[in-house]
Amino acid sequence: MNSFTFYSPTEVIFGKGVEEQAGEKIKAWGGSRVLVHFGGGSVKRSGLLDRVTASLEKAGLSYILLGGVVPNPHLGLAKEGIELCRREKVDFLLAVGGGSAMDSTKGIAMGVPYDGDVWDFYSGKALPQTALPIAAIPTLAASGSETSTSSVLTHEDGNLKRGFNHSLLRPRFALMNPELLYTLPPYQTACGVVDIMLHTFERFFSPGGENEMTDRIAEALLRTVIQYGPVCLSDPTNYQARSEIMWAGSLSHNHLTGLGRAGDWASHQLEHELSGMYDVAHGAGLAAVWGSWARFVCGQDMLRFARYGTNVWGIPLNYEHPEETAMEAIRQTERFFSSLGMPITITQLIGREPTDAEMREMAIKCTHFGGRKIGGLMKLGEEEIYQIYQNAR
Ligand code: NZQ
Ligand code: ZN
Repeated sequence: MNSFTFYSPTEVIFGKGVEEQAGEKIKAWGGSRVLVHFGGGSVKRSGLLDRVTASLEKAGLSYILLGGVVPNPHLGLAKEGIELCRREKVDFLLAVGGGSAMDSTKGIAMGVPYDGDVWDFYSGKALPQTALPIAAIPTLAASGSETSTSSVLTHEDGNLKRGFNHSLLRPRFALMNPELLYTLPPYQTACGVVDIMLHTFERFFSPGGENEMTDRIAEALLRTVIQYGPVCLSDPTNYQARSEIMWAGSLSHNHLTGLGRAGDWASHQLEHELSGMYDVAHGAGLAAVWGSWARFVCGQDMLRFARYGTNVWGIPLNYEHPEETAMEAIRQTERFFSSLGMPITITQLIGREPTDAEMREMAIKCTHFGGRKIGGLMKLGEEEIYQIYQNAR
């Protein structure tokens, strides 16, 4: 087994009604003035926001509200939040919503104590020395942001979508109530299932030799998601199914499924350009490009793709031609994405063919204008990235 460090300090409180603990938990963490940050209104419509603010009031905490986070969250609103927190002397941030609300909250948390432009962190110019404490009440099982170190924001100038990872960005605690997922539209549920699978794929299909414990956790997680994801679509208020998916979402991105492995992350980088260019949902963008990526790189470790087919999908291993098992595993994954209503090409994703110029622009941006290659199984530069977009068109 390869060496690794595992540190996942977010306290997870999981079950029905746990959002009512928001006030007492923040108080216990030393918060007194709270920014509650949320999206476009789903948390108001569901009544969740009222329950959360009632809990803050009951604990004697003061709070201010900042809504309006859009999917693929904008830098501009995070900057607004930073100014607001400084003005109002906020000392604790509570994200209520999906990955976008959580990621915007993380941007604010780093930005408040920083003198420069918070985009410096996302563009690799600076590292945060400190950040305000954060907690999360996720309403969507997908990003895993409730236990992850990541934040992804989009700079409106040039539609640059960039991620940043830092241990300061881990929420102190996450209140996870699977019932909060009942109101999700089917499309968002499906996007979440894909994103959870991809967070596991990015680690599983990457260099690292045989780390059996890690790999078997990853395979079990994938099997669980494949079993319960469709149930969430056919029976949206099925508590068991929503619970399984919600917990899988956190475990898929708190690094448990990647211990001892290098990680690949090319599919995520390819997708960030898609959602930067076309403002599509992250999970849908991943589904559109994953098959093309997998076919492009699987020759680097055919046996791993075959193992995935056998252990996750139950495809009998073709010992003489494991590449056939691998190919069938990729096809099976795409069939699964399609069965959830997800696109498996860029044309399906955006409703028209992408132009050559668009794909070239995404390839250039994906290399940070020539400054990097992406991927772990195979290093991908501009030409390879362009080819993967072409094959996914
Ligand atoms: O804005 P509201 O009104 O809340 O509506 C949202 C939004 O329209 C809606 N929604 C969320 N919970 C709901 C609900 N509607 C009804 N009932 C509920 N319970 O769903 C829509 C999508 O929300 P969003 O937060 O954008 O989705 P998701 O959680 O998939 O987050 C996507 C963002 O996370 C980033 C993605 O790139 C994307 O920007 N990621 C963040 C990661 C991280 N921080 O670790 C890792 C991921 O790989 C990902 O890149
Ligand atoms: Zn993701």
